[in-house]
Amino acid sequence: MKKLFLGMITASALTVVSCGPKSVAVTGPKYTSSEHLAQGKSIFENSCNRCHKLPDPAKHDDQGWINTLSRMAPKAKLTDEQHQMVYDYLISVNKK
Ligand code: HEC
Repeated sequence: MKKLFLGMITASALTVVSCGPKSVAVTGPKYTSSEHLAQGKSIFENSCNRCHKLPDPAKHDDQGWINTLSRMAPKAKLTDEQHQMVYDYLISVNKK
């Protein structure tokens, strides 16, 4: 588990440096603090309703949100950090 987290941190650090439009910034959960989740919620509510209604977080499971957010975060012009926080918020509330 510890190895996995280190791997994720390294991967996201590399993503920030390379900053390519095709990079998949978010591949799993990272933040769990209520502070980060609240921030993710507000980014979600402010950025994801510009083109369509806010989607129901229960629409996708954890893996599904990785896929959908990797398409939607660039549309919403989220930074990798915001993308991550929105992802962590969504999977904290998507359980049925
Ligand atoms: C610039 C416009 C735009 C923004 C901003 C945007 N979307 Fe979308 N979204 C679309 C379009 C267009 C579609 C339909 C085409 C498609 O699915 O790619 C869509 C479809 C979706 C769908 C349905 C398809 C699926 O995979 O379930 C979900 C869910 C979704 N968006 C979530 C989000 C979230 C979450 C955000 C905020 C991070 C967001 N969108 C921001 C344009 C946008």
